Amino acid sequence: MDLVSEHQTLRDELTQIWDGLLDSAAFVGGPQVGQFEKSFAEFCEVKDAIGVANGTDALLLALKALGIGSNDEVIVPANSFVATAEAVIHSGATPVFVDIDPRTYNIDASQIERHLTPQTRAIIPVHLYGQPADMDAVLAVAERHGLKVIEDSAQAHGARYRGRRAGSMGDAACFSFYPAKNLGACGDGGAVVTNDDNIATAVRRLRDHGGLKKYEHYSIGYNSRLDTLQAAILQRKLRDLGRRNEMRRRHAETYNELLASIPGIVTPFVPEGIDSVYHLYVVRVEKGKRTDLQKYLQERGVQTGIHYPAPTPRTPAFARFNVHACPVAEQHAATILSLPMFPDMEERQVEYVAKLLSEYMECI
Ligand SMILES: Cc1ncc(COP(=O)(O)O)c(C=O)c1O
Repeated sequence: MDLVSEHQTLRDELTQIWDGLLDSAAFVGGPQVGQFEKSFAEFCEVKDAIGVANGTDALLLALKALGIGSNDEVIVPANSFVATAEAVIHSGATPVFVDIDPRTYNIDASQIERHLTPQTRAIIPVHLYGQPADMDAVLAVAERHGLKVIEDSAQAHGARYRGRRAGSMGDAACFSFYPAKNLGACGDGGAVVTNDDNIATAVRRLRDHGGLKKYEHYSIGYNSRLDTLQAAILQRKLRDLGRRNEMRRRHAETYNELLASIPGIVTPFVPEGIDSVYHLYVVRVEKGKRTDLQKYLQERGVQTGIHYPAPTPRTPAFARFNVHACPVAEQHAATILSLPMFPDMEERQVEYVAKLLSEYMECI
């Protein structure tokens, strides 16, 4: 991705925002945070948004706000960025990994029930790569068993599931504004969004030392406020998010068309009724060819990534939670490749990447 060109375009406006803050020296708190929270809640079609320091804290604070802690278990997908499971552990609870769906790469909701125990309190579906998880199925399991649902929407700002915004379906949802995200700050940032007043109040307290006013502390909290500068920058960037997500979709459509007939490449599968925002465009590559293909692309100026090289329970830090096999996630991790994807990509760049893939897979 190319973060430089996006920020060059906005350079003057972002400089003005910074200049304004320097004049007021109101670096923490201030109206910018509340304004952005209001706009982001509207965008997500929820009642409330609470800005926090980053997406990992958003997950932790949402878990704490729901009263989840030691002796509790939380269902998470085997394939996600480690932050999803990390937050569960920091809350005091235990992550229970569920394998992923072989077509959508999101949590396989049909496998959740077999991993439930009397300790299970919540499910965290992750809308991975910008594509919402199968929320109807997840919500149905949660309802049958009295579980809370926290959507990890860190990669899915603006995506829709059967008409509903990613982030508007669970008890709470968590967003990251890490610079590379679809809505990215010029630093770290995050938010919890919810329709539940009690959760909103609890997160508001937790993010600021357990209080809503200075020196009033109702719970043991954190220092996890959304930075004022980042809030003001995000408010500006939010204006462009819909348009920029559309640009990503157009690139994905071009990739889909150009890659469809290349042997050994599987393009993303998006079920009916789902609008992905293509945070990443991830293909699967015929077993054994990925490393050389990556090298071939790299040598021709095309950077690719792997999201993620191993299922979370197979990373050393999570070894003690690796208690059952997740074969689909294993297979997935061994074959995936993230192709270049960012709004400012030019059509000819998408075509160039597709041409290289075709050359490599068909001729080499
Ligand atoms: C799926 C997922 N969850 C959580 C996070 C954590 O967000 P942050 O990096 O803002 O802490 C990320 C971001 O990297 C993510 O991709």
